[in-house]
Amino acid sequence: MSTELPGQKAVKVTTQTVVDMKELGEKISMLTAYDYTMAKLIDAAGIDIILVGDSASNVMAGHETTLPITLDHMIYHTSCVVRGVDRALVVADLPFMSYQVTTKEALISAGRMMKEAGAHAVKMEGGKPIAATIRRIVDAGIPVMGHLGLTPQSIYKFGTYKVRATDETEAEELIRDAKLLEEAGCFALVMEKIPAKLAAKVTDSISIPTIGIGAGAHCDGQVLVSHDMLGLNKDFHPRFLRRYADLHNEIIGAVDRYVSDVKSGDFPNESEQYK
Ligand code: KIV
Repeated sequence: MSTELPGQKAVKVTTQTVVDMKELGEKISMLTAYDYTMAKLIDAAGIDIILVGDSASNVMAGHETTLPITLDHMIYHTSCVVRGVDRALVVADLPFMSYQVTTKEALISAGRMMKEAGAHAVKMEGGKPIAATIRRIVDAGIPVMGHLGLTPQSIYKFGTYKVRATDETEAEELIRDAKLLEEAGCFALVMEKIPAKLAAKVTDSISIPTIGIGAGAHCDGQVLVSHDMLGLNKDFHPRFLRRYADLHNEIIGAVDRYVSDVKSGDFPNESEQYK
């Protein structure tokens, strides 16, 4: 979607760009990043959106769920990512309990994410219960990405990470929620782990782009956790995940060779030391 001449700075992806991409039928690519180096790599490779997901709680901090990560942690991760990005739109998750208690608190959390971290937009999980809060945040000039289906911040309510909205009642509720989020002013909507047919129905019934993770091919875009698609995490293999690299084995192999070279005295050699 961005066209730049050689030597020119990249044309930045904005929330309007991704809305236009749906209109033009151009698929949207989104990956997570939580630090400067990974963000710089992913941005250079041409990703449209970088999500500073609260999956940082799992991937970076080693927690079992996304619940423990705090707003201050998310602001730190987001500010690191923003410094590595030239082109992509940077969307930051508002973490659990930073927006559910009162609209005022949600507005303050979203404002801190924009002012202190430099995020370009925030993402929030949920439908009807938070629609009015989203409206207020959007009215304050802060773009919001919605998130429906499997919403990991509610894992203790669901009790399982299984596919959501497989029954008619939950599917109808999800369609209603998607329309409410569009009306509330969301510029895009993540749909996680729902049947592909339902995701297609939602995609065709709203004008804002849908971005799927385990939600089938008809979504307007796709998102994956970068550590999963790069094969850094070898123990996680859900059906929706495609691995594009095997960095787990690459890194273990490289460290193994380094350890051998240090132990044998092969590293450093003549050219790797100062005279
Ligand atoms: O936190 C995250 O990484 C996410 C994606 C899985 C969509 O919300």
